[in-house]
Amino acid sequence: MTEINSVTTLTQDGDVAVVTLNSPPVNALSANVRDGLFEGFKQAIASDAKAIVLICDGRTFIAGADITEFGGAMKGASLPDVQAQMENSPKPVIAAIHGTALGGGLEVALCAHYRVAVPSARLGLPEVNLGLLPGAGGTQRLPRIAGVEKALEMMTSGRHAPAKEALAMGLVDEIVPEGQLKEAAIAFARKIAADGKPLVKVRDNNTKLEAAKGHPEIFADFRKANARKFRGFLAPEYNIRCVEAAVNSASFDEGLAVERKLFMELMMGPQSAAQRYYFFAERQANKIPDVPDDTPTRPIAKVGILGAGTMGGGIAMNFANAGIPVVIVELKQDALDRGLKVIRGNYERSRGAVAEQTETRMGLLTGSLDMDAFADCDLVIEAVFERMDIKKDVFTNLDRICKPGAILATNTSALNIDEIASATKRPQDVIGLHFFSPANVMKLLEIVRADHTAKDVIATSMKLAKQIGKVAVLVGVTPGFVGNRILAQRQREAQKLVLEGAMPWDVDRVLYDFGFPMGPFAMSDLAGLDIGWVKEKSNGATIRDVLCELDRRGQKTGAGYYDYDENRNAKPSPVTEQIINDFIAKSGRNPRKISDEEILERCIYPMINEGAKILEEGKAIRASDIDVVWVNGYGWPVYRGGPMFYGDRLGAGKVLAKMAEFQGAMGDDFKPSALLESLVADGKKFSDFKR
Ligand code: CAA
Ligand code: NAI
Repeated sequence: MTEINSVTTLTQDGDVAVVTLNSPPVNALSANVRDGLFEGFKQAIASDAKAIVLICDGRTFIAGADITEFGGAMKGASLPDVQAQMENSPKPVIAAIHGTALGGGLEVALCAHYRVAVPSARLGLPEVNLGLLPGAGGTQRLPRIAGVEKALEMMTSGRHAPAKEALAMGLVDEIVPEGQLKEAAIAFARKIAADGKPLVKVRDNNTKLEAAKGHPEIFADFRKANARKFRGFLAPEYNIRCVEAAVNSASFDEGLAVERKLFMELMMGPQSAAQRYYFFAERQANKIPDVPDDTPTRPIAKVGILGAGTMGGGIAMNFANAGIPVVIVELKQDALDRGLKVIRGNYERSRGAVAEQTETRMGLLTGSLDMDAFADCDLVIEAVFERMDIKKDVFTNLDRICKPGAILATNTSALNIDEIASATKRPQDVIGLHFFSPANVMKLLEIVRADHTAKDVIATSMKLAKQIGKVAVLVGVTPGFVGNRILAQRQREAQKLVLEGAMPWDVDRVLYDFGFPMGPFAMSDLAGLDIGWVKEKSNGATIRDVLCELDRRGQKTGAGYYDYDENRNAKPSPVTEQIINDFIAKSGRNPRKISDEEILERCIYPMINEGAKILEEGKAIRASDIDVVWVNGYGWPVYRGGPMFYGDRLGAGKVLAKMAEFQGAMGDDFKPSALLESLVADGKKFSDFKR
């Protein structure tokens, strides 16, 4: 065995040389890895071996460029040099793939002459999720091997294709048995060499591109079909342009030059900076300073859910989807039946494998009207009505019924979890698990740590969140926790703006153009204006009251802030406009013209300021955790990083100056937080904040 460098070895098995990478955690293409590959292949080519296998140790094949190196000075061998070394090798090169071959990893594999993979391997070009495009020839090679349509779909979705699909599209030449990758790849390589098979260079095969030549409609149709999904993002469009270049350029190298130029543009731009930041923010959120990775966890083999309403049903589905049995308890049989029926309906309406597994998943759910059914559960999550007296009563009962060590969780959206925990004799076992609606779809889970929550309860909840596919963020007890507390700022300003002269559709348009999926008024119409509205108590005190009194309760009644046609398309409503104008007249104020800039600043700056207060109070661990909450739970456009990243982009000084200006004009809704002031005084950023 030759040790090429600290992450690369070269061995020989008979007449086959094997270059092995071992650079945990994911064999990313750091300078060291590139050097190892370059030198390893050089020596393998110079050896007497007849073929060369590239394989990785650890959990995965190369998972891409080393993202931590982006933006820094380039060191070591360049990736194109490594690729040329492999592709121009006079001996067949075979990439042996397990885990994930992603981004630069797949681009390296595409410079091998053949690829073999185990069935569990997945392959993809996920750069789009980092606001980028594959910058090492992937945009030119993937359409050559998989065809233009498939390449467009894979590159703009960033999807990881399973080995079987990769085989069907020609990305992989052979699937080999799980656990036998090395032996099988060596045998494959030996046979290729013995049979004198050609050294296939993906770059030279233009057949699939020819089929797309003279068909610009392929690209036009693709753009049109995905316009909604790609709105606001630069990277999908740039990926498409690269595939267009692959089809229309006179040579591979000409297409490659387009790829390079567009890659650099994205890499230097603000969107990719935000998306790369966000990649690490999400992973950072798993790290809790006083709950280290090796904190023991409690086993969760069975889950109880109290309440089969909107949230309880959705929460139950998460566990059934992960194969964990669930018992759901309700007050009355009809509520239980209704809840289970909704769950079944959700499964049946799903696509593909999920729909096929409806019976298996339903089989994991049992219903009961008796809370004693929770006696053997390891975790119980209550999702009953949002009232402190009811929640406390429920927790008194859970304390009595549940076995020692069971985790007792509440899905409350705003109540004080310390108070809820005080209803038990085991507050160390109580935690908030704040799911978002629809709970079976939304990725975000706010895990709420109360005063006495035990560390192993936190560690177990974080681990469980991963198991059920959620992005978890640990937050503290505060009204509305992190997400809703910040949302309240935006909602307040949106309402005030309307009473000063902006129309709901003006506010919505500005926030939509900023990148939110919809504005606050369209959102209210979707959710239903009558949530929390009581007819008997309504006295026309708010615009919402008046709308509800007129039976304009949102989309479901065909009218709310907006008017809706039969396809639920929204139109600005003259009725709403009149109601608003009457309100303003009654208040004795004159409506004024409010600029888009003011709308945006009034809605967004107080959110950033509230985030700062949350940090100051220790209700979030770090600024990036707040961003993870807002990107996953509230549709903050990921290409703007999140409210705190956006605040840093603007600069704390600018945020403070605006808050102070608004405070002078409009009062203490805009009072700057102490943290914001101290960051400005110290010339620091939100991302520098550490408690
Ligand atoms: N560069 C640097 N670090 C990386 C990395 C990368 N490409 N991919 C993962 N990591 C790090 C993570 O930050 C994490 O570090 P910590 O443990 O310190 O938090 C660690 O590796 C493990 O990652 P995950 O927690 O995400 O592990 P997982 O098993 O859940 O997922 C994965 C593994 C699917 C590979 C996932 O990490 C992933 O999607 N990585 C990014 C893949 C990617 O985007 N590749 C393209 C890079 S851009 C590129 O290649 C440009 C080009 O054209 C040359
Ligand atoms: P819901 O009204 O749809 O469902 C509540 C269910 O609990 C009802 O089916 C009711 O019969 C049942 N229930 C009430 N008391 C019970 C008891 N003592 N024992 C057994 N079942 C009982 O309410 P929803 O929307 O599901 O909310 C539940 C909780 O989740 C609330 O605390 C709410 O604040 C929170 N939440 C709601 C979100 C939403 O968007 N709806 C989002 C996040 C949290």
